[in-house]
Amino acid sequence: MRRLRYNVAMSLDGFIAGPKGEYDWITPNSGIDFAALYRQFDTLLMGRLTYDAMRAKGMSAKGMGMKAFVVSTTLKPEQHPDVTIIARNVPEAVAALKAQPGSIPQKDIWLCGGGALFRCLLDAGLVDSVEVSVFPVLLGSGVPLLPVGRRASLHLEESKTLPSGILMLKYAAAPKPLSSARPTSAKPKSAKPKSVRKRTA
Ligand SMILES: NC(=O)c1ccc[n+]([C@@H]2O[C@H](COP(=O)([O-])OP(=O)(O)OC[C@H]3O[C@@H](n4cnc5c(N)ncnc54)[C@H](OP(=O)(O)O)[C@@H]3O)[C@@H](O)[C@H]2O)c1
Repeated sequence: MRRLRYNVAMSLDGFIAGPKGEYDWITPNSGIDFAALYRQFDTLLMGRLTYDAMRAKGMSAKGMGMKAFVVSTTLKPEQHPDVTIIARNVPEAVAALKAQPGSIPQKDIWLCGGGALFRCLLDAGLVDSVEVSVFPVLLGSGVPLLPVGRRASLHLEESKTLPSGILMLKYAAAPKPLSSARPTSAKPKSAKPKSVRKRTA
């Protein structure tokens, strides 16, 4: 089963784009090694608005050396021959995509946004990893990392700070059960009750 990784840039106040889709805060001199990132994936999966934003920037999945799948009920497939449009049964289609063999050696599927599609796939239990590069900016409003909805627990796998002030965080979306995360034989240090010191006025 291929892994589906939501990997995005986010402002410190939790937005992946400004209120008008602004992304000027995602600076090219951020220090993020985009080439190394791209090498980990062979497939892009995105919502229609993210696809629109990519095209407006002159970017294409082909140019990034990947196949692209766009979730949309409004795009006409014949007008977008370079991508595969997923129009219905989104969780089922994405589960089938994850089950397909990818490149050899195996590469992952990049869920590159946006928040709306992330919400749908997170709720369906299909997202394996949530990877956020926190940029040192407060946008005040915009497109949220994730629209309002159900709670999901995460497990921190990696964190790295770049000299540019960006904090790169990687979480597993399906955390390990508590019993396997902590050895059961280890006694907590504070097992012996501490003596209570009486306060003198
Ligand atoms: N900072 C970053 O790293 C980053 C990454 C990605 C995107 N972005 C930004 O985020 C913004 C877009 O994000 P967004 O959350 O607003 O939108 P989005 O998820 O990219 O796109 C939403 C659209 O995708 C389709 N869609 C999504 N989920 C669907 C579902 N379950 N079933 C059917 N259709 C579904 C619908 O298209 P139809 O209306 O055609 O049906 C919906 O209107 C853009 O401004 C983009 O630049 C930033």
